Amino acid sequence: MRRMLASLMLLVLLPAVSMAATLSADANAVAHEISDTLYGLFFEDINYAADGGLYAELLLNRSFEYQKILNPQRADRYTGWNINALPFQKADWQLMEEGGLHPNNPHYLSVSLQDSGMRMMNQGYCSSALSGGVYVEAGKNYDFSLYLRREDFTGTVTAFIANAGAQPISNSVTFDADAEWKKYTAVLTPEKTADAWLCVTVEGSGRMDVDMLSLMPQDRIGRDWPGGGLRSDLVEALRDLKPAFLRFPGGCVAEGSYYRENAYNWKDTVGPVEQRRENPNTWGGMQTYGLGYYEYFCLAEEIGALPLPVVHAGMLCQARDRQDTDYTPDEVRAYAQDILDLIEFATGDTDTVWGGLRARMGHPAPFDLRYIAIGNENWGTAYFTRYGILRKIVKEKYPDITCIVAAGPVAEGTLIRDSWNQIRTRFPDDVVDEHYYMESNWFLKNTGRYDSYPRTTKVFLGEYAAHEPVQGSRRPNNLHAALCEAAYMTGLERNSDLVIMAAYAPLLAREEKPAWTPDLIWFNEKAVVLTPSYHVQKMFANTVGDQVVESALDDGKLYHVVTRTDTHLQIKVVNMQEEEVPFSMRLSHVPDGEGMVTCLSGTPKHTNSFVKPEKVIPVQNRCAVSGGSAEYVLPASSVTIFEFPLK
Ligand code: AHR
Repeated sequence: MRRMLASLMLLVLLPAVSMAATLSADANAVAHEISDTLYGLFFEDINYAADGGLYAELLLNRSFEYQKILNPQRADRYTGWNINALPFQKADWQLMEEGGLHPNNPHYLSVSLQDSGMRMMNQGYCSSALSGGVYVEAGKNYDFSLYLRREDFTGTVTAFIANAGAQPISNSVTFDADAEWKKYTAVLTPEKTADAWLCVTVEGSGRMDVDMLSLMPQDRIGRDWPGGGLRSDLVEALRDLKPAFLRFPGGCVAEGSYYRENAYNWKDTVGPVEQRRENPNTWGGMQTYGLGYYEYFCLAEEIGALPLPVVHAGMLCQARDRQDTDYTPDEVRAYAQDILDLIEFATGDTDTVWGGLRARMGHPAPFDLRYIAIGNENWGTAYFTRYGILRKIVKEKYPDITCIVAAGPVAEGTLIRDSWNQIRTRFPDDVVDEHYYMESNWFLKNTGRYDSYPRTTKVFLGEYAAHEPVQGSRRPNNLHAALCEAAYMTGLERNSDLVIMAAYAPLLAREEKPAWTPDLIWFNEKAVVLTPSYHVQKMFANTVGDQVVESALDDGKLYHVVTRTDTHLQIKVVNMQEEEVPFSMRLSHVPDGEGMVTCLSGTPKHTNSFVKPEKVIPVQNRCAVSGGSAEYVLPASSVTIFEFPLK
């Protein structure tokens, strides 16, 4: 009995082990080259990814332009602001619509006082107006600025970072003002770490106009870019993904929704930041365009990615469009000039109109622009006609630019089949942008999707993500979803002669009320949480090879791909089973030595959170290779990447 119990306990304690698997590969048996742009990023201002996220501005509605996309109300212009007379005093303020800093930025606050005072407090992007959402850290420096204009005003304007009781927790700075709009700057240094407010008081008599207030941490990236710069922890998270390209600005944001003016007009997003025309964001919030096209090109350069702009095709988001917004052929032709101007902005000489603007903004050298996507998630004959007109005009002036054509928003069915038929007939030399968001198991079942595609027209998997079954309004992701993506990515690599680019989507999401799930990176004002999917993307992008190597695996349950560079043989294996798998590798032309192993494993339903940001993270190990053989045990529910030196 005791012996039986002991063996039962042993059974419980020992991890379940599956049948052994053997992989054979010859490092010199190259199947094909791997696209050198395979893994990149898609950045869209969704889930407060730009304003309230990557863009370093801490103030919400800094210029009183805030507006909702549908049903805009005058009161929206006060979003983020809490404005009061000082205790026991009388003050008047009005939201003005004319005489502002610039026709693109017309609204401002006009304060009238009579020997009295008022106080305006900005809550920042935090959803709770009670605690204040301007997160500041003790001892750090913050760049503050505002524009003022005085009319018969005598008195003072003072700015500081405040607690909920409107008491200063930083130094206070006092400004004079002129009769014309003028920018004033100061450095504010809080003595406490806090969820705070930015507070400006105006005290005296007469009228004072206030606009375009800004507060940004000094330790940001791109402090000298006209938009002001980006949050450094998020930029580092992007840089670590070693992206080959950066797609921007959308997504639906590129196309706009519901009415024409909502479409992303790149010219509204460049030049001095106070002259950029804000635009309601189709995903909620307002686009200040402080992260505009110039800052986007700089960001791509900063993180070593090729820019990949997406412009709309003379039609709005087809899923949302409610009005007759389609451009006529003449309007499409006229609109083509905007696209040509964008290319000139990126690449033109400094003596051209738009190349000159780029130089004045701080980047005389051209950006390395090689691609342009025309349309985001479009389909149907009307789209392909517009695309045809636009790509012809682009190609006539810029024959070296590769045009990317949309294939619609779905993975399967008539719509995408029809798109491919039209594209293969009309634009076979362009790159085709596929988008799909599917349940995790779909990805597992479809790792061979591209094996049978004709090899002629290249594919850009511009948006994809796996999710678990829907829960309420969310589509959750976890380690299981990430492993399904990893399995799918072995298929992308195996087909990387055809699939030349791929990007997970969406990239970023603010903690509160995301417009879209799943997402790759979560953040709030204090922290960044990297999902298991992020770790998969990072592991793959950091070990992308130059060539796919022929390989064979005697196990139908594992997913794998073998690749190489000049210096390393790389083996990627995904084990979806909840059991370990003894794994033998028979490797020709791999010298004796030791390889690096990176492995992400754990309980499939686990994920990372603000409370436990490192619950699922990759670990590193070593694996010896001797006489062409290497042995390893693949953990249950894991993706493992081996890198064996070839010299
Ligand atoms: O990535 C989120 C959205 O998904 C994009 O804006 C759109 O292209 C797609 O529908």
